[in-house]
Amino acid sequence: MTSEITPILFLDSGIGGLSVMKAAAKLMPHQPFLYAADYAGAPYGTKTEAEIASRVPALLGRLTERYQPSLIAIACNTACTIALSHVRAALNIPIVGTVPAIKPASLKSKSKVIGLLGTDATIRQPYIDRLANTHASDCIMLRHAAPELVSAAEAKIRGEYVDQSIYDSAIQGLISQKNGDKIDHIILGCTHFPLLMDELSNCAPDTINFLHGADGNARQIERLLIENDTPPAKSGIAHHHFITSSSLSSISAYKPILRSYGFEKFDSI
Ligand code: DGL
Repeated sequence: MTSEITPILFLDSGIGGLSVMKAAAKLMPHQPFLYAADYAGAPYGTKTEAEIASRVPALLGRLTERYQPSLIAIACNTACTIALSHVRAALNIPIVGTVPAIKPASLKSKSKVIGLLGTDATIRQPYIDRLANTHASDCIMLRHAAPELVSAAEAKIRGEYVDQSIYDSAIQGLISQKNGDKIDHIILGCTHFPLLMDELSNCAPDTINFLHGADGNARQIERLLIENDTPPAKSGIAHHHFITSSSLSSISAYKPILRSYGFEKFDSI
């Protein structure tokens, strides 16, 4: 008898978490994934701390009850820097969070000036101050909120035209700051942004490297699954399931790209 493989649940406000899911799929190609996009609450980056802190645990509670995942990956920096501890307190299930890759950036930086691109909510969090004080105290970390990149990533996945000046102004938002010309690493502190890696690197100086935590998150997911005796599937074709908190009709433009990520089933919660 073969035991049923329970899926991993990814959550983001929209399609940003696909950057983490893609890294996880590379590491665990046979593992089925459930992906929840909270379009009814998106974007998260312009919400208040109180809204995120109540919305995210409540939604994850409903999804966990309904789908019984083996692990939750909160593939959203905004949600994690605000609500990770609330979710951990509320749910008795392994949880992997996503926070900006400040530590690797500071370790790699030679100029000791690093940049953080994130949502408005993420870059103002005390969680970010703590990460910077603990892991990057030898660096100057410049911050810039780029909410327009969230919409740009969503539009790109829907196959829509995106004005290139959006990428340029996000990069300028960092390098035009005092000491910005010395930045050698930019942290993509929102899971939507790695989906725009080519566009962003095309308009940044060659001396700048981009960093995000998706591969590290994927390794952590695999490690936790093994530790918890729910190892990732080792064979078979992985069938992925996409869930939106909005209407199914509102995600129809996303479906061609979502199918290329292996999603076969689409539902609304
Ligand atoms: N992808 C999310 C993040 O990592 C949220 C973007 C948003 O909804 O504003 O921060």
